[in-house]
Amino acid sequence: MNYYFDVFKIRKDFPFFINNPDIIYLDSAATSHKPSIVIEKEKEFYEKYNCNVHRTSGSFSLKVEEMCENSRKTIANFLNCDESEIFFTYSATYGINYIAYFLCINEYLGNDDEVIITEMEHHANLLPFLNLSKIFGFKVKVWKMNEKLELDIEELQKIISDKTKLLAVTHMSNVLGVVNDIENIVKICKDRGLMVLVDGAQGIVHNHVDLKKWDLDFYVFSAHKLYGPLGLGVVYVNKKHSKKKKPAFSGGSMISYVSLDKITYLDSPYFFEPGTQAFAQIFAFKYAIEYLKNLNLEKVKMYEIGLTKYLLEKLKELDFVEIYGNYEEVNDKRFAIVPFNVVNLHSHDVSFVVDRFNVLIRVGHHCAQLIHHKLGIPGSCRVSIAFYNTKEDIDKFIEALKQVKFLISKN
Ligand code: ALA
Repeated sequence: MNYYFDVFKIRKDFPFFINNPDIIYLDSAATSHKPSIVIEKEKEFYEKYNCNVHRTSGSFSLKVEEMCENSRKTIANFLNCDESEIFFTYSATYGINYIAYFLCINEYLGNDDEVIITEMEHHANLLPFLNLSKIFGFKVKVWKMNEKLELDIEELQKIISDKTKLLAVTHMSNVLGVVNDIENIVKICKDRGLMVLVDGAQGIVHNHVDLKKWDLDFYVFSAHKLYGPLGLGVVYVNKKHSKKKKPAFSGGSMISYVSLDKITYLDSPYFFEPGTQAFAQIFAFKYAIEYLKNLNLEKVKMYEIGLTKYLLEKLKELDFVEIYGNYEEVNDKRFAIVPFNVVNLHSHDVSFVVDRFNVLIRVGHHCAQLIHHKLGIPGSCRVSIAFYNTKEDIDKFIEALKQVKFLISKN
C-alpha cells in the first residue's frame, strides 16, 4: 500500500507512541492522540498566560482573548464559515444538547412539529431529541437504514412531511464508518423547508468540511477526536439563527446589560458562551488544526482508505469473523471505522484477549444501540484508524485476534 507520507516520522510527533512503543492503538474514533505541539501549547497557556477573559482591559486578559479569537479564526477558516458562527462548549454532546434546547425555547420546535433523527445516530444526537420531545411536544421520526446499513435519500424524501422542522443526522457513523452525503441531504431538506443539524464528531476527522457550500444550520464536533484537547466542543450556528434571543444557557460573560427587568445579550458567538471558557484548550486546539492542515488532508484520507482496505483484506481471511455493513468495497463513502464480531463470542471477551497483546479496540454498543438493535446483536468490536496507524499495527491486531480461537472452541 502507498504510505503517501512518512508515517514513522509522524508517529514521533505523538508522545503517546513514544511512551507506549508496544501499544497498538486502534480506537481513535473514541479519542485521538495529540501531537506534542498541542500538549505543549496547553501547558504553555497555564505556565505563561493563565488568566480569565473579561472582555475589558488588562493586558493579560486581552492577550488571552486575542489568543482564543485567533483559534476561532483558524477553526472558522478550516470549516469555511464566519468566526461569529463558531461557539465553544465542553463536548459535541453538550453542543448538540445546547442546540436542541435552543431550538425548543426559541419555538422552532413545539407541539405538532416533527424532528427526523436517523437509525445511525450516536446517542448524543438522539437522546436530546427523544427527551425534549416529551417536554416540548414535538414528534421524533426515524430515518431507517437499508439492508446495507446506509441511509437512502428516497426514504428521507418519503418521511418528510409538512410538519417536519429539523433533520438531525451524523456526518459519519461512529460504528459503521459510513459517510453520509451531507451536501445532497441539505439540498433536499432546504427544498422542503427543514433545518439540518449535523453531528460531525467523526465526519470532520476524515472528511473535508465546507460549511459555506453546504449552507446547513448547525454542525457540531469535539476537539479531542480531531487531535486536539479533551473538554472542548465546537458548534457552528448558521448566522441566520443568531438573531433568536433566548439563550439555552446564560450567566456571566455573555451579556451587555442586566437589571431585574431587562437583559440585553452580546452578539454571536459570545451570546452562546456563558461562563468561563476552556481557554487553554481553545488556545491549544488551533495547533491541532494547523498540524492537520500541514499533513495535507487529501493525503491523510487516501492513506486511511488504503489502511482500511488492508484491514478488511486481512479480516476477511478469518473465517470466525463477521463484518457488519457493506464493506464489499472500501472507498470515501465508508472507511476508517470497521465493526465486526467473532462468531459465538461476546465482544468483551474479544477485547479481553486482544488487550493481552497490547491491542486497544472498542467493544460494546459504542453509544449507538439503534444500529445494534437493527443487527440483532448486543454489541460489536470496532477498529478505528487514524493517519498515525500503520500496516504493522493491523498485522499485530490480526495476530492478536487469531488468539481468540481458543475461546471459540471452548464454547
Ligand atoms: N463517541 C465515541 C465513540 O464512538 C466515544 O467511541
